[in-house]
Amino acid sequence: MNSGSKEVKVNLGARSYKAVLGRGVIDTFPKLLGKVKSKRAFIVSDRNLVQARERLIQSLQKAGWEVHEFPKPAGERLKELDQITPLFGELLNAKANRDSTLFALGGGTIGDAAGFVAASYLRGISWVGIPTTLLAQVDSSLGGKTGINHPEGKNLIGAFHQPSLVVCETDFLSTLSKREMVSGLSEMIKYGIIYDQKLFKDIVKNQEKIISNDTHFIIPTIHKALSWKAKVVAKDEYDRKGTREALNFGHTFGHALEAATGYAYFQHGEAVLWGMRYALALSNIKKKLSLKDYEFIDGALAKIPVPPIPPGTAWEVLRKHLTKDKKVRDSKLHFVLLKRLGLAVSDSNVTEIEQVKAFDRVIRGSR
Ligand SMILES: NC(=O)c1ccc[n+]([C@@H]2O[C@H](COP(=O)([O-])OP(=O)(O)OC[C@H]3O[C@@H](n4cnc5c(N)ncnc54)[C@H](O)[C@@H]3O)[C@@H](O)[C@H]2O)c1
Ligand SMILES: [Zn+2]
Repeated sequence: MNSGSKEVKVNLGARSYKAVLGRGVIDTFPKLLGKVKSKRAFIVSDRNLVQARERLIQSLQKAGWEVHEFPKPAGERLKELDQITPLFGELLNAKANRDSTLFALGGGTIGDAAGFVAASYLRGISWVGIPTTLLAQVDSSLGGKTGINHPEGKNLIGAFHQPSLVVCETDFLSTLSKREMVSGLSEMIKYGIIYDQKLFKDIVKNQEKIISNDTHFIIPTIHKALSWKAKVVAKDEYDRKGTREALNFGHTFGHALEAATGYAYFQHGEAVLWGMRYALALSNIKKKLSLKDYEFIDGALAKIPVPPIPPGTAWEVLRKHLTKDKKVRDSKLHFVLLKRLGLAVSDSNVTEIEQVKAFDRVIRGSR
């Protein structure tokens, strides 16, 4: 594997854009913005990121940009309407106009919230995503899904608004906790499970090196995951054709687990890891996935260090959240299952008995 910087193109006709990835890409990326009408940058940043903010500002200023920065507390709370409303006023005060560019520097919550502001401010201005968590670099930064939460559920208010560029600086990952890295790794391994055997095996083999942000291993792995995401997004930009559905592998149960534990116990990727183990169990119970494949894949996932499902997590509670899942169609729950490593299938005929059986298996694996 080589450790140089890499690119991924998202082919969406007039809305096509690139993601650049590597060590040091933050210092030179402004040249990739090409000819812009106005070099006025409005940065929405995670206020905790001291070095990343400095490097972004320096890079833009060096390229002749006028910089305005709005540091915000990152986290799920930012994705609430009352938290982002002041930002519109701040942009108006600073005279951001339709030719201005918004830069989102932070993890997925900053990207989702700032992307949504870019989608709606003056009916939409261009934006650049600079994801700083592994989870955001491999997943949320690509695809144009922007949005905020509602008391009724996560991501219920939003818009599709593609960025004009995504910059994945792997230097930024060096300040992430091991937990955050594992959470991102779990989301990356999903691409291996549903699309790409080789990617799955590479991640399993190099797990420790990826978690420790070893450039030589992390760049090719993020690149591969991003390439898959770009391909799927290009086929189904607005998530209406079902092409993007496989990306939900592990998410039906994962989201229910996050909700059942008050969004305070698991990192997203950790809950997805349990969700994938649940989906694998279900795939085997539904006789879609052979026992041998199930044991092979689940055995590898069991070695990824995530917190256990809290004792006392009852099926009834999860069931309530599962049925609230937005993928409920015609009152039927919709699961993404696995046929074999690299091939996902959807299934809306899973009985509750089968669901409970899979839950029991996962709970046993969690003890
Ligand atoms: N739009 C999409 O397609 C999509 C896809 C998946 C997830 N998401 C969203 O992403 C969000 C989760 O993303 P996240 O896990 O990145 O959350 P986050 O933005 O809350 O970041 C997690 C934590 O890491 C910190 N942090 C960020 N970068 C850091 C760095 N370089 N070093 C040290 N600490 C750093 C943040 O301050 C925060 O405390 C959720 O809201 C989820 O809904 C969106
Ligand atoms: Zn996810």
